[in-house]
This record gives sequence, C-alpha cells and structure tokens, in this order.
Amino acid sequence: MNNKKIVEILNKALTEEITALLQYIQHHYLYKGANAQSVKELFKKLSFTEMDHAYKLGERIVALGGMPTTKPDRIEVPEKSIDMIKANLQVEYNAAEDFRKWIKELDKEGDVTSRNILEGILADEEGHIAELESLLGD
Ligand SMILES: [Fe+2]
Ligand SMILES: [Fe+2]
Repeated sequence: MNNKKIVEILNKALTEEITALLQYIQHHYLYKGANAQSVKELFKKLSFTEMDHAYKLGERIVALGGMPTTKPDRIEVPEKSIDMIKANLQVEYNAAEDFRKWIKELDKEGDVTSRNILEGILADEEGHIAELESLLGD
C-alpha cells in the first residue's frame, strides 16, 4: 500500500465533499420559487450527508498518516433557482464518475478499507442523483 498516493486520492474526494456541502448550504439559503420549502429542506438534508462523507474521508486520511484538506473547489451559485438543482446534479454526476474511478485505483493499491468507504459514499451519491432528478420531472 502506498499511503501517500491513497491520501492524495482521499483528499481529492474530500475536496468534492466539502464543495458539495457548501454548495447545498448556499442553495438552501437562496432557493426561491415553486415548492421552495421542500426543495430547501432537501438541499439541507443532502448537505448533512455530504458532511458525513467529509468526516469519514478526513478520519481515514488521518488514520493513514495524512492531513485532511479544508479547501473547497469552486461553488456554483446560479441566479435562477431551477439552475441550482441542475448545478447540484452536475456535482453529483461528477462525484459518481470520480468515485468509480478512485475505487478502481484503491483496488490497485490494495486498500480495502478506503475502497469500502468510497463504495458506501458512491451509493449515497447515486441516491442523491435520483432525488434531484425527480425534482426536474419526467
Ligand atoms: Fe458526498
Ligand atoms: Fe451527494
């Protein structure tokens, strides 16, 4: 196991979680329009899950001897509320794609524990995608 490489992967994942967490919080504050109350509550609920993901990754990074990042990536705050849902879906799609890639990389490193953490998070992100898609109809 190459801990340095594993910590690098986990910190990239942690950056995405912190970004998603902050974006959901901001969208919770600012969302307006039809069904605002239920959409705001959904964003709030999802932000708690992203925080839980961040804790899991940060704790694992420390267990491996690394330092967890505290820096988010760019937060998107669209003017139109409907675009907030789309921006969050984009974050979730990107996360799901990246986590699938990182799970394969962790497999190669032979780090079953980190791999299982990422697998659990990926399942949650797939749930988030389903919840956000259902807001957009069809
Ligand atoms: Fe997450
Ligand atoms: Fe998510």
